[in-house]
Amino acid sequence: MRRTSNHSQQRLLREEVLSLHSRLFSHRKNARTAFFVEICAQRADGSLHMNDEYSIETKCVQSGWKPKNGESRVLPIFQSTTFKYETSDEMGKLFDLEKNGYFYTRLQNPTNDMVAAKICELEGGVAAMLTSSGQAANYYAMFNICEAGDHVVISSTVYGGTFNLLTVTMKKMGIACTIVDPDSDEETLHKAFQENTKCVLAESIANPALVVLDFEKFARVAHAHNVPLIVDNTFATPINCRPFMFGVDIVTHSTTKYMDGHAMAVGGAIVDSGNFDWAKYGEKFHGLTKPDESYHGITYTEKFGKKAYITKATVQLMRDLGSIQSPMNAFLLNIGLETLHLRVPRHCENALKVASWLEHNDKVAWVNYPGLQSNKYYELAQKYMPNGTCGVISFGLKGGRDICVSFMDHLKLAAIVTHVADARTCVLHPASHTHRQMNDEQLKEAGVQPDLIRFSVGIENADDIIADIEQALAHI
Ligand SMILES: Cc1ncc(COP(=O)(O)O)c(C=O)c1O
Repeated sequence: MRRTSNHSQQRLLREEVLSLHSRLFSHRKNARTAFFVEICAQRADGSLHMNDEYSIETKCVQSGWKPKNGESRVLPIFQSTTFKYETSDEMGKLFDLEKNGYFYTRLQNPTNDMVAAKICELEGGVAAMLTSSGQAANYYAMFNICEAGDHVVISSTVYGGTFNLLTVTMKKMGIACTIVDPDSDEETLHKAFQENTKCVLAESIANPALVVLDFEKFARVAHAHNVPLIVDNTFATPINCRPFMFGVDIVTHSTTKYMDGHAMAVGGAIVDSGNFDWAKYGEKFHGLTKPDESYHGITYTEKFGKKAYITKATVQLMRDLGSIQSPMNAFLLNIGLETLHLRVPRHCENALKVASWLEHNDKVAWVNYPGLQSNKYYELAQKYMPNGTCGVISFGLKGGRDICVSFMDHLKLAAIVTHVADARTCVLHPASHTHRQMNDEQLKEAGVQPDLIRFSVGIENADDIIADIEQALAHI
């Protein structure tokens, strides 16, 4: 009986999510245009935008660059650091943010903006920007609204690099953080907040713990403290999950992963939902709501409305810190995005086959994949990403850490690389590699067991991947 009621509950939730998906992404009438397409000087009429009636698959292929008569069919690479103007006055107006247009690629470049516009449409946001890496995206997303003396709440299961960013570098900058277990109840989560808390950061599917975030729980708690929820959606991708539907305010990506998908270009992206009301909490977010003297007293929320957050990150943070994605990398990223909707389901299908096979193998101690019905996060995954989770699975072998390392050395098809979410199957031992700096206690909090093998299932034939695992297991 219990199984039946869970099953029908899941079905209802799935239907609810699917209907929300189609309402938001297939029938949206009010076009939400991406700021950086709007400010493309040559195309201020917004003619680059996809019709919002299109499905996500069509947006993967066609959003962003929309050539006019006689123009290049393929997104051009604006391989230029700078842009020419007829008069000095015209360029001066750009520096005052009085006029739209490009002037220097450290702040903006048309190739990047077309790709940012595509990612913006895929996530269903109002504005987006590309960064040089996923690290830069997460840093900018927080630093855009934080300064020395402020505080951030983060999930304990965030990627090791994000953990270091907060606990080492941002700490040195005077920005403190409290680390919370994402499975905590709301009462416990509330206790992590302080007067100076400016945002909450978590991952939709944590790398490598594969914890599925309860978006609505986190959004409720963050909003009760008048701060935005920032979610790194790298693993789920907008193909499987669109966090803005569940109360998330800002989404970040390491585009290096599935979005590129071919291990060609390091990059990142930030997308704003436009839903967080910065002006309502003006004192808290004074960087957005009070005049910026470095732009003759412009107030971002007044001048740019819902696009204030991304505008500030571009014209202030990019201006001062750099970290823009190279136009060449943005071009490569766009090629990856054109097949994202084809690759992600295949990754998920293969990962489920591999995880199910591992689950029934005697040499395997445990398997973690949120797509498995036996998994702790299966129901949350069904609720928030009913079409699939990601292609990454983790598992441990009987015999512990050394056996796991030896198994990895015997793999032939799956390559040992510091990478994940690639079309080619790859493998990594986080305790020896990405999470090497963490002590045992921190590893435990991050959901990383010492014997954890992170296995990123590619889009090859699943039987070949399984055969590779089988022959490597035979050696141990
Ligand atoms: C979830 C997640 N966020 C952010 C990053 C950092 O991205 P990048 O390597 O592009 O700087 C990674 C890298 O693995 C990641 O997995």
